[in-house]
Amino acid sequence: MTKQLITSALPYVNGLPHLGHMVGCLLPADVFARYLRAKGDDVLYICGTDEHGTVSEVGAAKENMPVESYCQKYHDQHVKMYQGFNLSFDYFGRTSSDQNKEITYRIFKALDKNDLIEERTTKQVYSPDDGRYLPDSYVMGTCPYCGYDKAKGDQCENCTKVLDPTDLINPRSVLSGSSNIEIRETKHLFLRLPKLEDELNQWIETKKGIWPDIAYSIAKKWLKEGLKERGITRDLKWGFAVPRPGFENKVFYVWFDAPIGYIGITKQWSDEKPTERHWEDWWLKPDEVHYTEFMGKDNIPFHTISFPATLKGTGENWKTVDFLKGMNYLNFAGGKFSKSAHRGIFLDDAIAEFPADYWRYWLIANAPESDDTNFSFDHFAAVVNKDLNDVLGNFINRVLKMTEKNFGAVVPPMGQPTTNEMELYQTLDTLITDYRKYMDGLEFRKAMATLREIWVAGNNYIAKTEPWKVVKENKDYAGTILATALNLIRLFGHISAPVMPESAEKMLAIIGEKLPFRFPTEPMKIYLTGIESGRAFAPCEPLFAKIAPERLEELKIKYKETEA
Ligand code: 2FM
Ligand code: ZN
Repeated sequence: MTKQLITSALPYVNGLPHLGHMVGCLLPADVFARYLRAKGDDVLYICGTDEHGTVSEVGAAKENMPVESYCQKYHDQHVKMYQGFNLSFDYFGRTSSDQNKEITYRIFKALDKNDLIEERTTKQVYSPDDGRYLPDSYVMGTCPYCGYDKAKGDQCENCTKVLDPTDLINPRSVLSGSSNIEIRETKHLFLRLPKLEDELNQWIETKKGIWPDIAYSIAKKWLKEGLKERGITRDLKWGFAVPRPGFENKVFYVWFDAPIGYIGITKQWSDEKPTERHWEDWWLKPDEVHYTEFMGKDNIPFHTISFPATLKGTGENWKTVDFLKGMNYLNFAGGKFSKSAHRGIFLDDAIAEFPADYWRYWLIANAPESDDTNFSFDHFAAVVNKDLNDVLGNFINRVLKMTEKNFGAVVPPMGQPTTNEMELYQTLDTLITDYRKYMDGLEFRKAMATLREIWVAGNNYIAKTEPWKVVKENKDYAGTILATALNLIRLFGHISAPVMPESAEKMLAIIGEKLPFRFPTEPMKIYLTGIESGRAFAPCEPLFAKIAPERLEELKIKYKETEA
């Protein structure tokens, strides 16, 4: 049994998550985790909130709350929203946990011992109007590389280049907008990335042709430009105190302890669940574990360079990423999701409007894998109405109704397969092999297109065999067709479960089965004759509902799609 470690990039605690976050790092990881569990792998899927940094400090001050309570409040909101989307984390923790502090200190000390930490006096932006040092992401200006005028001081989101705030042209404070900013001298600790460059280069080369292009090429681009020492401490109160004399008023940089959070959160889980596998089995036995990371493209440099360097620099045997799935952005009506402009669809709204499975299916079937993708309600409604209602939902309704009318609510006896059934078996064997190949390779769009083809194959089978006619002249064969179709409902439940767990559960309940689902491994010839004749089935309400044109227009107005 393969040990599969899966992490989703840890969402900032204070940012209200939207569909872009869902498809960028959370949902594909969940679909993959569910798929691997169904194949019988030993899966640990870890995520949590990323809580340190100025954003939390400033956010708490704005809400007049202690930062700890502020983080707890928003952490709880994340948990609720992700439950609404049925994300199947094995554990959803927090980067501010004691366990993460312990691991962060352990890693820092090992890096220090290996002479990879350097003390430097640096120049940092101080804003007299805000009365504080401004962290990198709170300085905004023009990117010196691409000219984007809203680049932040830690990274340009337009060209993904990692920046220092002092690189920016026309810098200003994000908090007050003031361009009255001073550069002051302050002491900080740096990770000596250049010393790790060769090791990283060799490691990245082993990922060529394995990682998706976007991940490999961003890492290579960074390495080609040459690595610079990277500051790992900040002048802030909220964070892990730096355990070194002279650094009493400083904390570790949020991007230092956030990825370490994957480990810290695993330890949180392990401490809470002592009967489960120990956290070290996941993180310190690299040859026994396969590790897949999911993230949006802006996170790739941190996960291909800084985090692996942090781990490798310890000289300890930490697990590093085997496969990195980086996603492009999901846009809303051609632009970005914006919390301040209330534009886009945030997760609480999404769940209030439609069942999670509608969103899950649309997002995975349209995942921004090779390019940025646009969300529009027109497209969403078209997919829900066609794929989920016309193709999948109608198939199930028709089969159940026809069977009940002619045979009662039980599975009819199955006779010898004819060429129709043999053809169906063959088509499905091929499609399921493809589906499996795409899921194994984390090619989600292709996997979903194949899943849809599998549903279509069921419809084609019914259209070709016409059981409503056959029943009049050859009732036995009509029974075989409908028994095969009931087995198809079971198949659709099993293979749709990673992406649509609630609907899958309903499909399986029809024929009296329950999750956990298992991915079919046997040939269709065997699988599709698996349900014994005479088994009672329970007719169900339609699984999906169409989105009517009037509702569609209301949604576009409500979510300002037309104004975008
Ligand atoms: O971009 C983000 O949302 C970050 N909070 C991701 C952190 S991923 C990991 F390093 F924790
Ligand atoms: Zn740029």
